[in-house]
Order: sequence, then structure tokens, then C-alpha cells
Amino acid sequence: MELIIDSPLDMHLHLREGDMLGQVAPYTARDFAGAVVMPNLLSPVTSLAAVHTYRDQILSCCLGHVFTPYMTLFLQPYTREELAAMKDDIIGIKLYPAGITTQSENGVSDFDSIVETLQSMSDLHIPLLVHGESNGFVMDREREFLSQYQWLAENFPKLTIVMEHITTADSLKLLDLYPNLFATVTLHHLLITLDDVVGGMLEPDLFCKPIAKTPEDRLALQQAVLSGHPKLVFGSDSAPHPRHKKECCGCAAGIFSSPVALPMLAEFFEDHHKLDLLQNFVSHFAKKIYKISPPVKKVTLTKKPWQVPEKYGDVRPFLAGRTMRWQVSHK
Ligand code: NCD
Ligand code: ZN
Repeated sequence: MELIIDSPLDMHLHLREGDMLGQVAPYTARDFAGAVVMPNLLSPVTSLAAVHTYRDQILSCCLGHVFTPYMTLFLQPYTREELAAMKDDIIGIKLYPAGITTQSENGVSDFDSIVETLQSMSDLHIPLLVHGESNGFVMDREREFLSQYQWLAENFPKLTIVMEHITTADSLKLLDLYPNLFATVTLHHLLITLDDVVGGMLEPDLFCKPIAKTPEDRLALQQAVLSGHPKLVFGSDSAPHPRHKKECCGCAAGIFSSPVALPMLAEFFEDHHKLDLLQNFVSHFAKKIYKISPPVKKVTLTKKPWQVPEKYGDVRPFLAGRTMRWQVSHK
């Protein structure tokens, strides 16, 4: 049995730099037609020159696969002129509350400081992508940020606002209240809860931001995605860390899921008898929301079991060792 997906897209991806970029980029470039690349590098992407340099580095690691990296900027105060000059080279600008996650120290600590930038983004039709967590208690961070989303949605009604990697039933409710709110959903948040992370032996490879939540939250996410909700799009948040950053005191947050993303999504949708909705979730809805035309690329999944390797280079992938039902055909 075969399943063909037209131009699959990963709307939230960390590709890193240097050796790590070279190790991980080929898996996304092979399986996807495009991906929204996050800007939280050691030195965050904050200029047109940095966007160009990073895009060229990414393309040089894609091994000739048909693949478009959709570049993002790290949100800082930018002038309207700066934004106008960068607009055509980026798909959006990513807001990180300062210090909330990996390499976000230079993020936003004062929302007043970005009001003008947000207005210019709205006028110039540049989407705002948001890591929506407060600095509060870890299980409440996403809920505590909802008032900020509300403020953004109400004060910038023409701005496209993407709630990145949502994990809670509350976020889904807010999403439906404002026409300018959209959201990405990861593979791992559809599959795991906090129990998988800390309920038995501590699982560093399942530790990520936002942390996986309750069974009720996971069920709400699953039901929303499986209902074909047109404001929900796939964003893996695949975020590789080398082994020594995971197996240590002070484990880094992030799950590397790129090589298993499409096969596992197919399995998930098939298990729920909703395979026909996969195309919308991994491509069609994102094309509409972002008004993009990714390269034409047909990715074929075949029903042929394979076992996920324990390691890709120096990184342990999500679902390592698991036998998968679907396999991406590489011709
Ligand atoms: C991401 C990373 O490692 O860059 N980590 C994660 O747990 N998701 C950053 C992020 O998206 O929060
Ligand atoms: Zn991320």
C-alpha cells in the first residue's frame, strides 16, 4: 500500500548550525518540501545578512533534495524600514519571551518595547510566530501566556499570529476565539504526556519545551487535529541536541523527530481512521495560512516496517528502536 503526500511542510523546525546542521538537515530536506526554520542560533538571526548566510548554509546541507527553507527572524525591536527590506526573505518573526527556552536569552522581556514593530509587521503582512510560555510553574506556563495572546490578537487584529507548539485544551479554546490566531502542533505532543517524561525512569529524550501535559490535554489536541481543524498545522519542533547535552545534569530541552515525523503521523492518522486528513495537516492548511507555494514534491510512504535507529550521528531520535509501519520511499 502506498500513500502519496503532496509537498509536505514542517512549519516549526530547529536545524542548528555547523556539524549539527549537516547531520540533521538532510532528513527534513528528504521528507519535506519546505520547513519554517527557527532563528534561535547561538547568535540569533536578527539581520538580513544573517538570514542569507544561514539560508545558504542550510541549502548547502540539503544534498540536492527539493526543499525550501522558510527563514525567520528573532524578534527584537525593528524599524519599519528594516522590516520592509527583509520582508521578502522571511516567512515570519519569532517571539521568544526572554530566557524561556534554548538560546532565548535575547528574547522579549518588555512587550511595550515591541509595539511599534508589531504594528509594522501587521501593516507589512509579516506573521508573528510565538513561543507562548510565561516564566511561571512549568505546567501552567502555556495557560499563563494566554492573556498575552489575547492582548496580541485584540490589539493587532490584522496580524497573523501563530501559537507555536500548543499543548493544552485551553490554548485550543483561545484559538477559536480570534480569527487572526493559528497554531502549530508537534508530533510528540500528540503522542506523549508528562507521565512519559517523568512518570517512570526519567526520560531526557522526551524532555522539551513546552513540557508534555496531561492526558486530557493530549486528548483535546488529538481530537482537534483529527477533526481537521483548519487553523492547526504540523510543526515538528524537532530540536536536536548532542548526546552529552541530554545525558547530563542540566539536560537540554528538545526532541529530535525529523526522521520519524511523516511515518509516525501516517500511523497516527491511520490508527484513527483519518488518513484522508493528513494532507491538510502537513501541507494544505499551512499553504493557505501563510499564503505560500512550496515546491512541487510528491513524497511516497510505503507500508513496509522499519526500525528507527538508536542514533543519527550524535543524536538520539524520537521513537528510537521502535518498529514503524510506514516508510518514506527514497528513490
Ligand atoms: C527548542 C530548542 O532546543 O531550540 N527546544 C524545545 O524543547 N522545543 C526551543 C523551543 O522551541 O522551545
Ligand atoms: Zn521550537
